[in-house]
Amino acid sequence: MGLDIKELIAEREIERYRLHSSYLNEQMVHVLKTIGFDRRYQRGVGQYLYDERGEKYLDLLSGWGVFAIGRNHPTVREALKAVLDSELPNLVQMDVSVLSGVLAERLLGFAPHLDKVFFSNSGAEAVEAAIKFARTATRRPGIVYCSHAFHGLTYGSLSLNGDPNFRADFGPLLPECFEIAFNDLAALEQALASRPIAAFIVEPIQGKGVIIPNDGYLQGAFELCRKYGTLFIADEIQTGLGRTGRFLASEHWGIEPDMVLLAKSLSGGHVPVGAVLTHKWVFDKVFNCMARAVVHGSTFSKNDLAMAAGLATLQVIESERLIDKSAQVGKRLLHSFEEMSRRHELIKSVRGKGLMIGVEFGSPRSPKLRASWKLLETASNGLFCQLIVIPLFNDHRVLTQVAGHGSHTIKLLPSLTISDEDCGWIEQSFEAVIASAHRTTGAVWKLGKTLISNTVRARSTHQLHDRGSLALADGIIE
Ligand SMILES: Cc1ncc(COP(=O)(O)O)c(C=O)c1O
Repeated sequence: MGLDIKELIAEREIERYRLHSSYLNEQMVHVLKTIGFDRRYQRGVGQYLYDERGEKYLDLLSGWGVFAIGRNHPTVREALKAVLDSELPNLVQMDVSVLSGVLAERLLGFAPHLDKVFFSNSGAEAVEAAIKFARTATRRPGIVYCSHAFHGLTYGSLSLNGDPNFRADFGPLLPECFEIAFNDLAALEQALASRPIAAFIVEPIQGKGVIIPNDGYLQGAFELCRKYGTLFIADEIQTGLGRTGRFLASEHWGIEPDMVLLAKSLSGGHVPVGAVLTHKWVFDKVFNCMARAVVHGSTFSKNDLAMAAGLATLQVIESERLIDKSAQVGKRLLHSFEEMSRRHELIKSVRGKGLMIGVEFGSPRSPKLRASWKLLETASNGLFCQLIVIPLFNDHRVLTQVAGHGSHTIKLLPSLTISDEDCGWIEQSFEAVIASAHRTTGAVWKLGKTLISNTVRARSTHQLHDRGSLALADGIIE
């Protein structure tokens, strides 16, 4: 008898939070219940989620950026079904597959200055490969990364993480990894000049906080890397595949990185996959003889389902012109948020490219509002943003997240498929919630009081990690 997955889900649905509390991450269940995000979603279609009551939500997280083409896209589903129906040999290992060859060829078509592709199972694994390749290719140990960087949570990638909250208690990390400030060329030059540095790794737009590089920063960093014989690695795991209105965000600044890392959206949201795109000479140093043909790799990378998901995703991005769409829709939203910032003093700045947008809040000028802000931020740094995120979700069914620990920035990372109507939904809901946050007697600040007392209570009972408190619900991974 086969396994009836639909029946299994229907039967056990009622137990989902208990199962997670018992067997998985109990703290995640606490977070969801504390902020009222426990909605028992039943379906995901495109940019929308549907809960058990059939309520429709607009998802601006897109699974931390994996659903660039939306959830359950028919082209990806058809490609995956076709792979299963074809009884392909898959993962023979002592063979090479067609689909991985074709996907590599197609990806390199988007980065024609590069020649080779290494496939992994996740973003962090692509980062791990890049670290190993850079060290082998240059015969140097050092890796330079930026403050606030996020490259994943495995040991190598965690060693390049610019947020102490993620690193704490996990040491010792990889040696010879050096942090410098983002946007600081002098710091980069000093780091490159003082030691043998294999690679400088950078997100062209930093995901934590949506930090855009200053004019000339990435070009300057690229030139410095050339000057010191250091490889320039662009981590485009979040920014790649059209997210910022170009296939690669590096293109905005005319950079041709020595390595480009991709993952997230390439999966079509269905089958995890990552990729390192690089020069032939780098590959030739790593895989330099037959005895080293499998010196780096992993069992499941290049599996047919992942390769088919990648190919189908690229096809959708092209056929639906999602890169242009991301640029245009992003421009509209950015403009709307800039307009909003003129009306609302709590908005400090608005940043973004394409459909990667950050709305940053800051301490207001008006004395009464300022006092309320201070109270909340004293209880927990970054707590103010929950005053926006929670009503956006509860009152407007718009799912967002804070862009990092202690951050005052809410990040929008929707599917690139969002419509004009969705933009109206976003604009009206943000406007309503932010306007209400300017009235200290309104519902938003009543929620603020509840959050402060929850935070204090959670700290005392250790329900939530005392360092992060409610900010635990902030950009946990992406
Ligand atoms: C820029 C960047 N690099 C690397 C990663 C790690 O990817 P993964 O979670 O697939 O390991 C992420 C994940 O959020 C990311 O945003």
